[in-house]
Amino acid sequence: MKQTKIRVDRYFTVGKTDDRLFGSFIEHLGRAVYEGIYDPGNPLSDARGFRQDVLQLVRKLQVPVIRYPGGNFVSGYRWEDGVGPKEQRPVRAELAWHALETNQFGLNEFMDWAKAAGSQVMMAVNMGTRGLEDARNLLEYCNFEKGTYYSDLRRMHGYEQPHNIRLWCIGNEMDGDWQIGHKTAAEYGRAAEETIRVMKMLDPHIEAVVCGSSGLTEPEFGRWEQAVLDECYEQADYLSLHQYYGNWDGDSGEFLASAAGMDEFIRSVVSICDCVKAKKRSRKTLYLSFDEWNVWYHSRMEKKEIPWWTKAPHQLEDVYNLEDALVAGTMLITLLRHADRVKIACLAQLVNVIAPIMTSARGVWCQTIFYPYLHASLYGRGTVLTTLQEGPSYESRTYGAVPYLDSVVVWNEEKEEITVFAVNRDMEEPMEVACDLRQFEGYQVIEQLQMAGEDLKAENTEKNPECVAPQQVRNAVWKDGILYAVFAKQSWNVIRLKK
Ligand code: AHR
Repeated sequence: MKQTKIRVDRYFTVGKTDDRLFGSFIEHLGRAVYEGIYDPGNPLSDARGFRQDVLQLVRKLQVPVIRYPGGNFVSGYRWEDGVGPKEQRPVRAELAWHALETNQFGLNEFMDWAKAAGSQVMMAVNMGTRGLEDARNLLEYCNFEKGTYYSDLRRMHGYEQPHNIRLWCIGNEMDGDWQIGHKTAAEYGRAAEETIRVMKMLDPHIEAVVCGSSGLTEPEFGRWEQAVLDECYEQADYLSLHQYYGNWDGDSGEFLASAAGMDEFIRSVVSICDCVKAKKRSRKTLYLSFDEWNVWYHSRMEKKEIPWWTKAPHQLEDVYNLEDALVAGTMLITLLRHADRVKIACLAQLVNVIAPIMTSARGVWCQTIFYPYLHASLYGRGTVLTTLQEGPSYESRTYGAVPYLDSVVVWNEEKEEITVFAVNRDMEEPMEVACDLRQFEGYQVIEQLQMAGEDLKAENTEKNPECVAPQQVRNAVWKDGILYAVFAKQSWNVIRLKK
């Protein structure tokens, strides 16, 4: 059997996780909002139209922050369409996804929904068809207490107290030519700088996320970050990264290696931020917001014709399988390993659209990717330890040598808990693991979870919702400060220890 050694030292730490590392995303896209979180008239919804079964699962995930309302959608959005009396709200042709937007759900409904979910909101402003003026008005509507046009408009709409939204995305994927109002890096950087400056004049407590590249392989990657930050480094608080992976050519070994690309992406963006910092002789360190990450390719491969201008079309409804969950697990491990610089991350998305949670009119079920996300959110908060590994690797065409085992160790000092997260990418054999925890006395294994199976393509559906789900296993033993365990082939693993 192959073997991997993991070494950690309580004094060698990456850093503390920011809770917002376990965020997610709801866009006005497909059935994420309508028939997803908002389904008036359905017996599973409350009087406000909020699906209670969905809310229960979102609460279970303990999602700290949710990005809204887009995504590509935001670049053509008029937020005023979605506030005030519902019968007066216009129906619009939504150009990003070619759907009909009824605006029956908007900003205030989302704030109420997020409150019910126990989540903070990360609000995106439209930098495509709009810009500074609109961003300022929206911020005034959301955060200004009273006595001005937009704050009083909010109060007229029934929201006496300001929403106090702290985190703001200054547009979405402005580097992409698919984006409504797409810009060059210099144009966007300048507009972002002005917009944040004005927004901070109105509310100096906000934090701003500026658009980085929509992927490591985007043609402008690197040049884009550099040029944007040249314009707005001092105003911005975070730079965003987006990345989706897929098993496009049916090569599972290659697909399972994908997070090596995410790692390279993060390291490169950190270098660019620090290069601009040095050029500007700035004292400020810029942090990263990985505000769209996931597997997304099943629905793209289908090439199903989605009729234009329908309400809540079935779009981007990827059905996830075991290998997708393993890739999601390695992406979470990668984010944790970079907790010193990545402060915010959003699994894109949350409900029905490339999502861990799916709905029908009859109920909800969890996709395979739900589980690594749940485990990371519940047990991944704390101090990430510098996790050194010694073990076998395999050769990936794209990323070179990739270790079969991907792992990270998180120590929650207050709760006196340690969690080992690991994915065994080996599709042939289990992996014997020895994790040196000698500096942590008095801990014992309280839980060992594993998600594995013979069939990498096994998936959860409404009819068979628990085909792929974590199981309790009991092979981990703690002996003289070393944790020994066997991780099944192609598996997601969580070992929890407590003092
Ligand atoms: O999450 C789906 C889409 O992916 C988003 O709208 C966009 O930002 C990205 O390209």
